[in-house]
Amino acid sequence: MVDFYINDQLVQADDNQTVMQAAREHGVFIPYFCWHPDLSVPGNCRICMVEVTAEGGAEGSGWLDIACNMPITRGMRVLTDSERVRARRKETLQFITLNHPVDCGICDKAGECTLQDYHVAYNGSPSISRDAKVHATKHYALSDRIVLDNERCILCTRCVRFTREISKSNSLGVQNRGDHSLIRPTEDGAFAADPYSDNVVDICPVGALLSRDFLHQARVWYLKPTPSVCPGCDRGCAVDIWHRKNEWKLKSVGTEHNARIDRVTPRENPAGPWVCNQGRDLAKIFGRARAVGAMLKGRPVELDAALRAARELLKGAKRAVALVSSWASNEELAAFQRLLGSRFDGHVKPDRFAEPGDVVEDDFLIRADKNPNRAGARALFPDTPADEHFVVPEGTDLVLVWGEGYSFARLPAKAKIIYLNSWLQPENGHADVFLPISVQTERRGTYTNGAGTAGTFEPSFDKPAGVFDAEDLFAGMAVQAVAVTS
Ligand code: SF4
Ligand code: SF4
Ligand code: FES
Repeated sequence: MVDFYINDQLVQADDNQTVMQAAREHGVFIPYFCWHPDLSVPGNCRICMVEVTAEGGAEGSGWLDIACNMPITRGMRVLTDSERVRARRKETLQFITLNHPVDCGICDKAGECTLQDYHVAYNGSPSISRDAKVHATKHYALSDRIVLDNERCILCTRCVRFTREISKSNSLGVQNRGDHSLIRPTEDGAFAADPYSDNVVDICPVGALLSRDFLHQARVWYLKPTPSVCPGCDRGCAVDIWHRKNEWKLKSVGTEHNARIDRVTPRENPAGPWVCNQGRDLAKIFGRARAVGAMLKGRPVELDAALRAARELLKGAKRAVALVSSWASNEELAAFQRLLGSRFDGHVKPDRFAEPGDVVEDDFLIRADKNPNRAGARALFPDTPADEHFVVPEGTDLVLVWGEGYSFARLPAKAKIIYLNSWLQPENGHADVFLPISVQTERRGTYTNGAGTAGTFEPSFDKPAGVFDAEDLFAGMAVQAVAVTS
C-alpha cells in the first residue's frame, strides 16, 4: 500500500494504482472522457487534469498531469479541484468544443452527456474561437443498428478500443489527422457483423454514436430504468429495461409508447458492463401481439369457466404430463411444483431457439441455450428433459403445455391440452383450455443462469386486462374456489 494525499487528506492506494483509480475508490470525483474502467488508457482527452506535488515538494512546485495515467507515488499530494485545475479544464473544454456543433436540443445523448455536464461544471462560457467550425459527416451509417455523427465526436477512441479489446472485431479506427480525423469502420464490414456493436453507444461519452432503434424516440428524462435480467440466453446478463415514467405517460396520441421497452442497457456483469445486441432487442420479443382472454377450443370464455374446465380435465386424467417452460421464473416453477407437481409428470422444454442470422454461441457472452431459466426449471424437474423433438409418452391423456416452442403436432392425438401462453399464436385456439399468462416485464421474479447464479427482475409494466400470473392460475386449477385477478 502507498500513502498519499488527495485534497489534503491522507489516504492509501494499492501499489500500481493510478490517481484516477485511487480517487474513485476514496469517493473523489475526477472528470473523464477517454478513460473507461474496462478499457486501456490512451490519455488523449486531457479533461482529467489534476495538480500534483511530489513528496517534499515546495508549495507551488506542483504540476498539472492527467489522473488517468499517473501512478501514485509515496507522499504525493494531489489536488483535484484547485483553481489551476479548474482553469485548465475550462481551456480543455474550449478546445474540445471548438468544432463541436453543440446541437444538444436534437441530440439523443442530451441528459446523459458528460460533455454537457462538464461544460456546465467547468466552462459555462461560449466559445472564444472566431474561426468557423470545421464540419464533418453528420449522419454516417456505421451499420443497420448504429449511426455516427462525426461532428459530435470528441475522438476519445473509446469505441475503437472497445472493438479491439472487448468485442475483438477490430472494426473501428480513426482516419486522417487533426480536425479532419474521423471514426470509420474497417471496409470488411466487421463492425456491422459485430454481435456486441451496440455497446459503443453506451460508452460514447457524447451523442456521436446513436442507436437507430432509439433515434429521436424519447428524451431520456421521460424514461426510467427497471432492473431486469436478459432472457435472451442462459448467460442471464443483468440489464436495465428503460420505459416511460408514470408522470410522462402519454394520454392521447402515441399511448402505445407507455407499455413499450424503449431501450435496454447493461448493468454491471461479471465480464463488465456489456451485453450482446440480442439483449438490446428485447422490445422485439416483448412487443409481439399478446394473447388476452381465456378460451375453450378457441371460444372466448370467462376465466372461471376456463379454470373449471381445466380442473375437470385434471380430475378425469389418468396420465398427465406437463411440458414446463424454461422462461418461467423460479417462483412460478416453485408454485407449479407445490400446487400441481404431484398431478403431472414434469418435463422441462425450451421455449425459444436461435433464429436465422443470430450468433448461436461464442466465447464471450452469447450462449447456445436461448432460454433464461432452464437451470432453475431442471433443478425442480430433473427427470427427462424435453427438447423440441421430445415425444410425449404413449397413454398420456392430458398435457399441460407451458410457454411457446413446442409443436402440438407432436402431442398424442387423443390427449387433452391445457395451454398457458403469453403470445397470440395459432396453437392457442387448438387447446382444450387456453390461459393467457403475464410476461417477465410484468412481474417480479428470479432466473437461474447456466452458471447457477440467480438474477432478479422487477416489473416494468402492468399486465394487460385479461392476462393472469401463472401462479394464480395454478392455484385456480388446484382448488375449487380461488379468486384470480388480471
Ligand atoms: S464516436 Fe464517441 S466513443 Fe467514438 S471516439 Fe468519438 S466520442 Fe469517442
Ligand atoms: S449474452 Fe445472452 S443474456 Fe447476455 S445480453 Fe446477450 S442474449 Fe442476453
Ligand atoms: S480521462 Fe484522462 S486523458 Fe482522458
